[in-house]
Amino acid sequence: MQKTGGGVRVLGEAIASQIDIHRATGGVVPEVAAREHVSVIRPLIERVMHEAGCEPRDLDAMAVTVGPGLMPALSVGVTAARTLAYVWDKPIVPVHHIEGHIASALLSAEESTKTKAQIPNNFKVPNPKQVFPALALIVSGGHTLLIRVSGHVQYKVIGSTRDDAVGEVFDKVGRMLGLPYPGGPHVSQLAQQGDAAAFPFPRPMLASGDLNFSYSGLKTSVYYAIRRRQQALSELPRQVKADIAASFQAAVVDSLLAKLEAASRQDEYATILLAGGVAANRLLRQRLGEFASARSQKLQIAPLPLCGDNAVMIGLAGLFAFAAGRLKVWTSTDARARVSIEDFTEALTQS
Ligand code: KG4
Ligand code: ZN
Repeated sequence: MQKTGGGVRVLGEAIASQIDIHRATGGVVPEVAAREHVSVIRPLIERVMHEAGCEPRDLDAMAVTVGPGLMPALSVGVTAARTLAYVWDKPIVPVHHIEGHIASALLSAEESTKTKAQIPNNFKVPNPKQVFPALALIVSGGHTLLIRVSGHVQYKVIGSTRDDAVGEVFDKVGRMLGLPYPGGPHVSQLAQQGDAAAFPFPRPMLASGDLNFSYSGLKTSVYYAIRRRQQALSELPRQVKADIAASFQAAVVDSLLAKLEAASRQDEYATILLAGGVAANRLLRQRLGEFASARSQKLQIAPLPLCGDNAVMIGLAGLFAFAAGRLKVWTSTDARARVSIEDFTEALTQS
């Protein structure tokens, strides 16, 4: 990835998806994921360097996700980065996974937002003076976060989930409805044929008085809505499944928008940012678009191909961090399974 006048150019990009492997087990088995990481990482790096026409001497630094996530998988990436940094004598820019998602919302590539096409090569990046302070809603399989972003690499978490993450609940509801892994895209697709008013699922945490989320109660309500009707899932009519999917999705989107609204009432924000795997959800994108235009609030949603985990977002966050002077030697770069975005950036500024 290379900085250009008003944005960035992606010289080479590749994803080694393990979704087919995890579908067989209905979820991620850490040991299986780690073994797969080990076998794909070297050919993947070689391929990207080749496609980019890049030699090691062309690189200024290497960005790598150090956490949070599954330790066996993270450590494969970090070990590869440490090894190359040593051999090629290059600095490392450690990146927090959520920093990557936030960065993805700062990119605009107009033509790519309509389809889930290939990741485009050229992106515009807005002037920091126009986007910050920003209110970021990050919704993924592992996180549900509201973050005040005061500038590149400056974050304050103002809301988070008390239990399941939004994507995780989508996946669990998908499993309850007998849909393939990961459930999120399948639930939202099925929801298109359903009636969102058919099941009065609760809108969680509306009266909690804070900016936090909770989805275990909603998940239980969906579970009992299914159990009450039928013992065997296969006997549940498709229309009822679609109604459950639509009603569930509406409850989730309502709860997210309610907290976003509460947060934007508490503080002034130049922009709202939406990113993370669940940001691909059509209803969420549409409702947030309506929310922002009703308030004349500037909104940036991650381009569709960059909602799910990808290397472009980590590279971009790496570029911002590089510009802020976050350069580390290989000996001081370690994977961290659990670390908040605030603790992560604070520790880096102190070291
Ligand atoms: O950001 P991501 O790729 O990985 C994590 O960092 O977790 O997010 C993956 C999550 C999965 O839970 C997946 O089901 C969900 O994003 N997801 C969706 C949609 N597309 C992906 N959830 C709801 N609607 C979608 N269209
Ligand atoms: Zn993610």
